[in-house]
Formats: sequence, C-alpha cells, structure tokens
Amino acid sequence: MTQKFIFSENPAADLERVIAELAPTSVAVVADVNTAQYVVPLLTAASPAIKAANLITVKAGDLNKTLDAAQSIWRALAQMQADRRSVLVAVGGGMVTDLAGFAAATYMRGIRAVYVPTTLLAAVDASAGGKTGVNFLGLKNMVGTFTEPVAAIISSTFFSTLTPDEVLSGYGEMLKHALLSDAKMLGRLLAFTPAAQASAMLPLVEESVKVKCKFVEGDLREGSKRRALNLGHSAGHAFEELAMKRTAAIPHGFAVAHGCVVALVLSHIHLGFPSDTLHSFAQFVAQHYPLDFTLTCDDYPELLALMHHDKKNTSRQTFNFTLLAEVGKPQIDCHVSEDDVRNALDIYRDLIGI
Ligand SMILES: NC(=O)c1ccc[n+]([C@@H]2O[C@H](COP(=O)([O-])OP(=O)(O)OC[C@H]3O[C@@H](n4cnc5c(N)ncnc54)[C@H](O)[C@@H]3O)[C@@H](O)[C@H]2O)c1
Repeated sequence: MTQKFIFSENPAADLERVIAELAPTSVAVVADVNTAQYVVPLLTAASPAIKAANLITVKAGDLNKTLDAAQSIWRALAQMQADRRSVLVAVGGGMVTDLAGFAAATYMRGIRAVYVPTTLLAAVDASAGGKTGVNFLGLKNMVGTFTEPVAAIISSTFFSTLTPDEVLSGYGEMLKHALLSDAKMLGRLLAFTPAAQASAMLPLVEESVKVKCKFVEGDLREGSKRRALNLGHSAGHAFEELAMKRTAAIPHGFAVAHGCVVALVLSHIHLGFPSDTLHSFAQFVAQHYPLDFTLTCDDYPELLALMHHDKKNTSRQTFNFTLLAEVGKPQIDCHVSEDDVRNALDIYRDLIGI
C-alpha cells in the first residue's frame, strides 16, 4: 500500500502540513451536508489551505452515493478549473470517501485525494483499502475503482457528534478486525464501552486500521488473503437485507457483529474454534447490538435465499464463508451446506437470546 495513514490528535494541523507537502495548484473539499456543518468548520478554523479551498457539498446518506452526485463533483472541479495537480479532500463518512474518492480517481484520469474520515466506520474501514465507488441500478458499489488516496488523516476528535448507533456500527468492523488479528486485541475490545468512550479510542482505531492494511497489503484487488475481511459478511448482509425488507434497517456494523457470531458458531462446529471465546463474543454482541426485529426458524428460507445472492458463492448447493480455526487464524473459501447454516442459526439465536 502506498497510502499514508496519520493518526492525529490535531487533524487540522496535520491536514495543513499534508496539503503543503503535496503543493497542489488548487484544493477542493467534498463534504456532505452534515460534515459541512459539524466537521469542516473545525478544519477551516486551523487550516488556511482548507479555508481557501472550494467547498463542494453533497447530500448525505448512501442513497446519494450516485453517478449524479459524482457528476456534480466533476462539474464543480471543472468550474474551479481543477487540473491534474489539484487535490481533493474528502471530509465525511464512508459515503463521502467512496463518492469523492471515485470522483477524484476519474476526474482527468485521476487527481490526488486525501481522506479525512469522520465516522468510526470510515476511519477503520472505508479509508483503507482503496475501494471507491457509487451505487448504480439499485446495486451497491456497482461502479468504482481501486484507487488509494495519498493519505488518510484519522482522528477520534470528530466522533463526538456521531450517534451511539453510528459509533457501534464502526465498532462492529473493529470487532471483526480483532477476530482476524489476535486474542489480546479482542480482549481489549470486549472490555471497552464503545458508545460511551468514542472520543478516546484513537489507539484502538490505529490498531484496527493496521489489521485491515495487513490483509489488503499485496492483495488490493481481493484475489486471496483480502477475502478474509469478509468474515461476518455472509450472514451479515442477509440480516441487513432482511431488516431492510421489514423496513427496520439496521446499521451495517450491527449486521456484521451478528454475522460474526454466526461465523464463529460455524467455525466452532467445523474448525474447533474455542467455545469460551465464542460465548464471550456472543455475549458482547447480545448486550451492545440489540436488533429491532425477531428471528424465528420460519425466517430461515428467506435468509438462506438472501445468502445465496452473495457474490462469493460459486455453487447453488453450498455457501462460501470465511471461518476461523482460532482468533487470528482465518480460513477463506469454507464451503458450508444449508443444513449447517440452519443449525448454526439455531445456536446463534440461543446465544443471542432472540
Ligand atoms: N470503501 C470501503 O472499503 C468501504 C468500507 C465500508 C463501508 N463503505 C461505505 O461506507 C458507507 C457507510 O459509511 P458510514 O457509516 O460512514 O456512512 P455515512 O458516510 O453515510 O455517514 C453516516 C451519517 O453520519 C453523518 N456524519 C458523518 N460524520 C459525522 C460527524 N462527525 N458528526 C455527525 N454526523 C456525521 C453523515 O452525514 C451521515 O448522515 C457506505 O456507502 C459503504 O458502502 C466503504
């Protein structure tokens, strides 16, 4: 990975320094309506380069991660006569970094981008790994590129204006990173109260980003080891879609946390993953990630059908899961039958109490 990560207590000063080093012809800042209100003023107050930059504001929310929004950024860049040596600074959650990263990667065949992630999810996940993109034809991230920003400036000072659910959602991905990393990191995360201590989590965030980078390093295009990062997503995506159908949308990281419990149950059955770790992880998820809907065995056919849509599957008969032999020992491409998943869902429901 060529991208720099700066973990910062003083992001405006670090951003100013990074921009000075890049010596751009001009600077554009892309923010959504919320980050333009909550975060951009914190940066302009202490960074003359951001104060002088052109601010491009887009609508908030994943529904606005569209080609139309990308066009509005390209148009604004053209109007300010941005050239190949201009820099685009994306200030926002994963929706803004994905969208602005895509606009930067494609404007004039690519200009440099700097990310200032403002949600926990964007800090630990979307700002690393180079995936940019927009939704298209109702499909998530259908059009995009693999292009890393030159730098990401990561600071927990922005998290104080996030809702507790947004903090917990990012924390779901951090739990996944800890499962992929080591037992000590997992222990630290399970002993922390994320929603109450969001502004104090920079060291944990740094640790989490490093885990993601370890899996992306040398496999930007997800040919092999990066696929371990799909842990928790096979069942997680199905939970997310089921919730959406019932108009009770759940944040992505909540679905991942619950999906990880299902993956750990399967890991226990197939690879002997330790049951004490499975139980303490499930207990943490049950306590911190309540779901607004119930799940009974009558829902299994629908859940299984949703899991069959997962693009990782190569067969109609089995599901492709990332599982763990133990914490820090992932195995990608584990093929699991429908009966195995039904059995795992029964155990998951017992553990979580739904
Ligand atoms: N590129 C990747 O590898 C990757 C990885 C994970 C997720 N994603 C993408 O990230 C997006 C989800 O990211 P997200 O959860 O950050 O969503 P988001 O960017 O939509 O942010 C969630 C909400 O929080 C608001 N917000 C952001 N920062 C704030 C702050 N500091 N204070 C107050 N409000 C703030 C936003 O305006 C928005 O309303 C999805 O589009 C997903 O596809 C990308």
